[in-house]
Amino acid sequence: MRNPLSQTITNIQPSGIRKFFDIVNEMEDAISLGVGEPDFDTPWRIRDEAIYSLEQGRTFYTSNSGLKELKEEICNYLERKYDLQYRATSEIMITVGGSEAIDIALRAMLDPGDEVLIPQPSYVSYEPCTILANGKPVIINLKEENDFRLTAKEVEEAITDKTKILILPFPNNPTGAVLEQKDLEEIAKVVIEHDLFVMTDEIYSELTYLEKHVSIASLPGMKERTVYINGFSKAFAMTGWRLGYACAPKEIIEQMLKIHQFAIMCAPTTSQYAAVEAVKNCEEEVQNMREEYNERRRYLVHRFKKMGLQCFEPFGAFYIFPSIKEFGLTSDEFATQFLQSKKVAVVPGTAFGACGEGFIRISYAYSLDNLKIALDRMEEFVKELREKK
Ligand SMILES: Cc1ncc(COP(=O)(O)O)c(C=O)c1O
Repeated sequence: MRNPLSQTITNIQPSGIRKFFDIVNEMEDAISLGVGEPDFDTPWRIRDEAIYSLEQGRTFYTSNSGLKELKEEICNYLERKYDLQYRATSEIMITVGGSEAIDIALRAMLDPGDEVLIPQPSYVSYEPCTILANGKPVIINLKEENDFRLTAKEVEEAITDKTKILILPFPNNPTGAVLEQKDLEEIAKVVIEHDLFVMTDEIYSELTYLEKHVSIASLPGMKERTVYINGFSKAFAMTGWRLGYACAPKEIIEQMLKIHQFAIMCAPTTSQYAAVEAVKNCEEEVQNMREEYNERRRYLVHRFKKMGLQCFEPFGAFYIFPSIKEFGLTSDEFATQFLQSKKVAVVPGTAFGACGEGFIRISYAYSLDNLKIALDRMEEFVKELREKK
């Protein structure tokens, strides 16, 4: 029999995030600090809207690009929060999570051989989605000494005559790094000079703890060359509702919509009705979650300092990315031994790119009580490793 599989997909490795969690589920008394998903339930007023929409029998497809009211409310929200002006009729589409938006934006924009600049460590889907869209990933290794920020110089050095898209993954998963207005202005200058496009994944834009989030799309000359991606999973604790969106110039949205139309049809209808309430009326709920994440973030920074573990202070998302280089173990060895001896799961930095070697990702989307137990165990583990040396 012929090989039924495509060479392209068989060459792609599955995500390295999940590996440890199958083990955790089987282990009694184990704690996971691994999953990048809010521990909060979706706020009740959002769930109420979903229930109401079902009671009203709103169980049909919406238009391909999404519910008109939701698109309008997202445009209002983006203008109010980030000074972004998009037209609800032609410059936005509702997707199945930010995940779908990433995939179809790349598929709509890339021709074979086009190069995509991907700063790493970063979210796991950019590289495989680029390959599946026939593009060529070009990795930019972010540096610990820059607090894992992307610099304009790093972008400039990676550009060739084939470069088409720069992916901008900030606030960043897994490092928690953010970019400020000045960083973005310098990057925008290079992007415009070299006639590139930006795909900016701002799914953690509500979760910044120092300065207000700035979108690159709001800078002069950038809206027309940016695909802006966001979603409901993180800010509104709605991972299971599978809802995100993309905003871009009309010509790009039109092509993305074709892929969405043929592969998906429309995003889940019940989720779309619920999401109207999220963007319209949930400022307070989001603020409460942000404050709680911030408390946990500060607690972790304090504990790592006390342990003497090298770690830069993250100002976005809900992750912290300490260095484990002093122990002479790989990230994978550290995570495996920590899980086996102390029953705490973390993710090796290498799950987010080769330059994540020497780091582990800890998610603080877990209660302070759990974090305290896990950090006590980590302190013991680190002490034991230092004694062995
Ligand atoms: C940076 C980043 N982008 C996109 C996603 C996808 O989120 P969703 O498809 O749930 O919107 C994630 C999920 O972890 C993420 O961390």
